[in-house]
Amino acid sequence: MALSFHYVATLAFFVIVNLCSFGISQDDVDLSKGASFIFGDSLVDAGNNNYLRTLSRANIPPNGIDFKASGGSPTGRYTNGRTIGDIIGEELGQPHYALPFLAPNTTGKAILYGVNYASGGGGIMNATGRIFVNRLSMDIQVDYFNITRKEIDQLLGPSKAREYLQRKSIFSVTIGSNDFLNNYLLPVISMGARISQTPEAFVDDMLNHLRGQLTRLYQLDARKFIMGNVGPLGCIPYQKTINQLSENECVSLPNKLAIQYNARLKDLVQELNENLPGATFVHANVYDLVMELITNYAKYGFTTASAACCGNGGQFAGIIPCGPTSSMCSERDKHVFWDPYHPSEAANLIIAKQLLDGDSRYISPMNVRRLRDL
Ligand SMILES: *[C@@H]1O[C@H](CO)[C@@H](O)[C@H](O)[C@H]1NC(C)=O
Ligand SMILES: *[C@@H]1O[C@H](CO)[C@@H](O)[C@H](O)[C@H]1NC(C)=O
Ligand SMILES: *[C@@H]1O[C@H](CO)[C@@H](O)[C@H](O)[C@H]1NC(C)=O
Repeated sequence: MALSFHYVATLAFFVIVNLCSFGISQDDVDLSKGASFIFGDSLVDAGNNNYLRTLSRANIPPNGIDFKASGGSPTGRYTNGRTIGDIIGEELGQPHYALPFLAPNTTGKAILYGVNYASGGGGIMNATGRIFVNRLSMDIQVDYFNITRKEIDQLLGPSKAREYLQRKSIFSVTIGSNDFLNNYLLPVISMGARISQTPEAFVDDMLNHLRGQLTRLYQLDARKFIMGNVGPLGCIPYQKTINQLSENECVSLPNKLAIQYNARLKDLVQELNENLPGATFVHANVYDLVMELITNYAKYGFTTASAACCGNGGQFAGIIPCGPTSSMCSERDKHVFWDPYHPSEAANLIIAKQLLDGDSRYISPMNVRRLRDL
């Protein structure tokens, strides 16, 4: 009787010890690798839209088919595997991918490894992505970071929290594509905007909003920023299909708008580096990187840079987004584009690697690894 009581008590002790080790207790939070706080659109959404009533969703197969952490189930990522944000966090040694802010289990100490606020359809401007009914625009993403900020204060105490955010945390911002694709360039809905605003005036508005949003992040102790520019929108399978282009052509207006915005973004990065003491903004030249992959796709082991791997409609499978009824290519790592809008994991890997360790052609004034080590 005594023996079995002892046995039960010992067993209970082990169960309790083991249960504790499943949660993250104060002592085993390893803050040495820092955190990623990810802002942006569907290029880096890791599942926020799963929790919104929205028409922009990616938690349907075969999205995520190559995402190892979920065993190939869809997670809300708009690609077959990891996003650029996932790959960078992993390469920097962070214990897990930045969790979607809206996921119910994104609470407690898990947020210390990073949080993802990105949302498919979201843009710099509030009106962007209205066609999807709901999405998190950049203003709201910053509001949500303000909530996380207070939670980190509670977890670490104010002075440790400030130091962790300022020195160990990387803030990446991948936004702007939808302000063109799902706002300025959208027929009907944007008619008003396009009649009343020249491209210069629209781009000006975008930059002014972005300056305000980044300044708010700075006020909340963000110091190390990665600012992605807008990719060659005129070369995505969707644009090539609806404009009935041939293999090696791109639509010129979307690319022109992206180039125009990108030039101004570069100036903003320089301005903020000069005006916000202690902050470092690095400029990620996603446009040139993706253009290089598209132009010289064979050199990188791809067989096509025009056709979506997963999609339907037209010459480049570029009209209907990827879903259960889409046709899917057989070699997913041979396509630059996973779906009508988004790069494949294979392309994301090449892009992320250049941002981490590349030179000033693609990432300036320093690469992400050097930014981390500042
Ligand atoms: C939260 O839930 C998601 C989906 O079930 C899972 O992938 C993730 O690992 C969980 N995160 C934590 C910190 O438990
Ligand atoms: C955009 O929406 C947010 C949140 O609803 C609001 O705080 C902000 O003022 C809006 N910005 C503009 C320019 O309307
Ligand atoms: C963060 O939230 C507080 C209210 O809780 C507000 O006073 C403050 O202005 C917000 N900061 C930013 C940068 O939005």
